[in-house]
Amino acid sequence: MNDFIVDLNDVKIYQDDHLVLNNVNLKVKSGELVYLVGKTGSGKTSLIKTLYADIPLKYGMGRVSGFNLETLKQSEIPYLRRDLGVVFQDFQLLNDRSVKENLLFVLKATGWGNNIKIQNRIKKVLELVGMSYKDYKKTYELSGGEKQRVSIARSLLNEPKLIIADEPTGNLDPKTSNEIMLLFKKVQSDGIAILMATHNYQIIRDFPSKIYNCSEGSIQITERLIL
Ligand SMILES: Nc1ncnc2c1ncn2[C@@H]1O[C@H](COP(=O)(O)OP(=O)(O)OP(=O)(O)O)[C@@H](O)[C@H]1O
Ligand SMILES: [Mg+2]
Repeated sequence: MNDFIVDLNDVKIYQDDHLVLNNVNLKVKSGELVYLVGKTGSGKTSLIKTLYADIPLKYGMGRVSGFNLETLKQSEIPYLRRDLGVVFQDFQLLNDRSVKENLLFVLKATGWGNNIKIQNRIKKVLELVGMSYKDYKKTYELSGGEKQRVSIARSLLNEPKLIIADEPTGNLDPKTSNEIMLLFKKVQSDGIAILMATHNYQIIRDFPSKIYNCSEGSIQITERLIL
């Protein structure tokens, strides 16, 4: 056992047969905020998809939340994903449904049956992200920042140990991005690890933390920003 929530050792990341990243060594501890940077096409999203088993791990040793990615069976993928929250740049909400219905959809899909527990959990996560007062709104009626709050609420539903965020502020203005980061910091202070791919160097300056840089087909930990 170790206390790493993500532990990749000498992993290769593929898109189909195309090798995207080689010699990937990446570790995230419980409760840690880790940034993933690198220019467009450098492999950040491919790496992230490998962590939630959207891309299979073919070579190397990779563990996420205690699951061995190399030997993970198809039937185990939902259990891995239940330990993770995933947040996307484009939110990926169901636009024709209300905020509450979006959250209900995920709880039902992940096996929640007790209606009181369901209502309490939805209330709790919406309070956490400051969106309780708009729980009845259709998500197409929300601003980008509000949508991202809802998608973070959704990622928290099953009490994940890790949130993986792929450019979560990519569609947001600087002030809203800052608010979303404050929310992530609050989530982190509850002991949840966050791995975030970003092009937003202002955020990294304002909320400094460990950085991994994807470049030239591999990934290196870096102490300072290379701009
Ligand atoms: N679905 C796909 N099928 C085949 N190749 C892909 C696919 N998605 C990405 N690639 C390729 O894999 C490489 C890495 O892409 P990836 O999306 O991981 O980069 P990224 O660092 O996330 O870029 P960005 O900053 O633009 O989001 C690129 O060469 C890209 O063209
Ligand atoms: Mg990407």
